Amino acid sequence: MPGMKHKIAPSLLAADFLHLQQEIEMINNSEADWLHMDVMDGVFVPNISFGFPILEAVKPLLKKPLDVHLMIVEPQKFIREVAAAGAYLMNVHYEVSPHLRRTVSAIKEADMKAGVTLNPHTPIHLLEDIIQDIDMVLLMSVNPGFGGQKFIEHTVEKTARLKDMILRKGLHTLIEVDGGVNKETGKRLLTAGADVLVTGNFVFKSPNPMQVIKELKELTV
Ligand code: DX5
Ligand code: ZN
Repeated sequence: MPGMKHKIAPSLLAADFLHLQQEIEMINNSEADWLHMDVMDGVFVPNISFGFPILEAVKPLLKKPLDVHLMIVEPQKFIREVAAAGAYLMNVHYEVSPHLRRTVSAIKEADMKAGVTLNPHTPIHLLEDIIQDIDMVLLMSVNPGFGGQKFIEHTVEKTARLKDMILRKGLHTLIEVDGGVNKETGKRLLTAGADVLVTGNFVFKSPNPMQVIKELKELTV
């Protein structure tokens, strides 16, 4: 929709975990819209990040909506924990959700927005019969599990096709993209129809994260 400003969701995975308080205060004082937090289990993805104690520790400090990305098997088992951590939005992967409609309903009943995440190889047409029930689609633009990876170019075209599906159905589902996002890839994703950009290393490993967030907010299509 023209005039609707895109959102920036910095990914805490790339932050300095010894100074989480300062990192959250930076997010609070920045133009970031959301904070993105990645929970991994070493089973669905070949890495382990952090779990609910860290989400709980961040909760009282954070003044922005929390966007939780679960990279775990059986995510439906943890809806209560994610809600208790104050999450605004809970993303589950399509690939580990055989009863996705039930999971989406349970997320909404827990007063959260429901997001469905697709791995790079998972086609968008699999969402044809669920997209009307979800608030957001999270497209992975790297293989999930690690920050700092190279952006998969195919995601730009995939974003455009997903946007077409959403418009064709007259929906307002948001599109979030995660992995290898910087100003250059971010601008092309926004042009293709992305609404929310997740960005880890590009923000947190820069000398001036607040300025980088501001520049990402100022991207125009
Ligand atoms: C990757 C995570 C991402 C990650 C993005 O599996 O889902 O959220 O933190 O990091 P960058 O922006 O460094 O690719
Ligand atoms: Zn993520």
